[in-house]
Amino acid sequence: MALREIVVDGDPILRKKSRPVEKFDDKLKILLDDMAETMYYDNRGIGIAAVQVGILRRAFVVDVGDEHGKLEFINPEIYEREGSALGMEGCLSCPGKNGYVERPTRIRVRAQDRNGEWFDMEATELLAVCICHEYDHLDGILFIDKVVEVEEDEFDDEEDGES
Ligand code: NI
Repeated sequence: MALREIVVDGDPILRKKSRPVEKFDDKLKILLDDMAETMYYDNRGIGIAAVQVGILRRAFVVDVGDEHGKLEFINPEIYEREGSALGMEGCLSCPGKNGYVERPTRIRVRAQDRNGEWFDMEATELLAVCICHEYDHLDGILFIDKVVEVEEDEFDDEEDGES
């Protein structure tokens, strides 16, 4: 595993739409492992999308510290969204920024795992928020586009993490 460099806001790649993953090969597994290591490094993140390490593919990794542990989503589709709540978010690609974003409180998502097997799950609370945040990355959307109010360098991100 290796740390990868995180792309930060201002780089046009973050605004591009990621393409579906087609090959479930060793290269994908290395990418996912590297993404996780980069996310966990220095306890910085609770989620990371492939585009954040410069790879325009529809894949992300999340670990919000709940009972699910680390989860990998390849070619995901959020097909149900329910409820609405405001929560504080940050993003590894937007250092020093936090802000409140409105997200669903419950979602259903289907995706492929690293072997190409499809799975389907329900997510609530922080996990739902994190999946929605990462899902947006796949379409070139950043949380700062949706934020109610951005706070710069005022918030310690330890509680909610960055993704
Ligand atoms: Ni993010």
